[in-house]
Amino acid sequence: MRRLNVAIIGGGTVGCGVYQALRRNSGLLVARTGTHLQINHVVVRNRRKQRPVRFSERLVSTDWKAAIRDPKTDIVGELIGGTTTAKTIVETALKLGKPVVTANKALLSEHGESLFALAAENGAGLYYEASVAGGIPIIKVLREGLVGNRLNYIYGILNGTCNYILTRMEAEGGDFADVLADAQKKGYAEAKASLDVDGLDAMHKTGLLASLAHGFWVSPDQIHVDGIRQISQMDIEFAGKLGYKIKLLASICRLSTTGSRHSAKEHQIQVSVCPTLIPQSHILASVSGVFNAIYINGDVVGETLYYGHGAGHGATASAVLSDIADAALDHINHQTVRVRPFTRHTSEGQVIPWEDIISEYYMRLTVADKPGTMAKITKVLAESGIGISSIVQPEGHKGASVPLILMIHDAATSAMQKALNQISRLNVVKSPSKMIRVEHFH
Ligand code: NAP
Ligand code: HSE
Repeated sequence: MRRLNVAIIGGGTVGCGVYQALRRNSGLLVARTGTHLQINHVVVRNRRKQRPVRFSERLVSTDWKAAIRDPKTDIVGELIGGTTTAKTIVETALKLGKPVVTANKALLSEHGESLFALAAENGAGLYYEASVAGGIPIIKVLREGLVGNRLNYIYGILNGTCNYILTRMEAEGGDFADVLADAQKKGYAEAKASLDVDGLDAMHKTGLLASLAHGFWVSPDQIHVDGIRQISQMDIEFAGKLGYKIKLLASICRLSTTGSRHSAKEHQIQVSVCPTLIPQSHILASVSGVFNAIYINGDVVGETLYYGHGAGHGATASAVLSDIADAALDHINHQTVRVRPFTRHTSEGQVIPWEDIISEYYMRLTVADKPGTMAKITKVLAESGIGISSIVQPEGHKGASVPLILMIHDAATSAMQKALNQISRLNVVKSPSKMIRVEHFH
């Protein structure tokens, strides 16, 4: 029986989940991998902290360098998060030729290309299934399952915390701060919750998926991102009345060379993460709570859907175990990394600027309830070449100013932003106006 030792650096939500799961299913993993995988180190910052799992005392330390350098350590799990110490940990292990398993999407999104190169130079694997969509094996899907497909579009709900917040705000009118605190208590949120609610965590994941799908590196600064802080109860209600749900939606779309909405060269893609109105009848609208889902269209397979827990100790541990098993199998296979972490397959890839995107929009204004208001607003839109598909003044709002919702036909984002600024300056418009993208998935 082969034995491999795994050093876990980080004993928080994910580290505890991995420790528990590896102990619970070690027999199963022996049967499936032919290897006995055991933990030889758990490294934390504070040894005295109360944790949901009681680590065996002899395993725990605060010295990650010693844990990595220990000649008995075969595989390193980087589970601390962040992009500074975590980067040094991954680099140190790779330079020693030790395979690394990480759940750290922020690190990979910012430094993935150089870390993958370092892994290749040192003949070590870098595994990151847990970095995107929790327990859904979406990295394997893109690198292996759909390898024979040109990927036309990928739409995803990729942040469990945001989906949990939006779902509870919709279902019970929950207060944003209270629901966020609950998501933190459940272990869904990042150490800095702004990474979740400002859309950055989803942006990191989206960049990784876009890079894998399109074969060139998509860095965070190429991705348009907007979080959910500005989504109000009122928007959720109005969207509902119009037949939509609001989701923090990641979009990675290959622009069609023949399609009617966009014209593009072969490798142009649009990549964004933003709150989006999606029809209640669409399958992604039913993805609630901490669940994630990814809806992919490949030119051979057609449409496919992947669904599961997107955050939390169990979902993430499941993905980390899958990587540990892969690392073990590669190790047995004479240190050959069977599937490369990232394969560049085009040098012509381009992400088109957000301003050039053509989309439908929802626009919410707070306006003076008096004759002539509508005419002033529609005049700006007409002069900007923007078509309106419907106008709704929701009932039950009385007073000097009332909400007004406009649903906008396909328009260039730059034109929409310009028109919204002009409209916001009209004297009949009373408070900051808002526009949210609308996606019909066709
Ligand atoms: P966490 O609960 O905050 O745990 C972080 C752990 O790292 C803690 O045990 C902490 O020690 C330890 N740590 C931090 N800095 C350290 C250092 N310099 N030396 C040694 N130990 C250090 O975070 P988490 O939720 O487990 O997330 C870990 C990683 O997984 C992040 O990259 C995150 O993005 C990713 N991830 C999380 C989830 C999720 O659902 N939570 C899902 C997918 C991916 P102390 O406990 O002593 O403070
Ligand atoms: N904070 C992340 C989320 C953890 O809520 O989706 C999973 O990556």
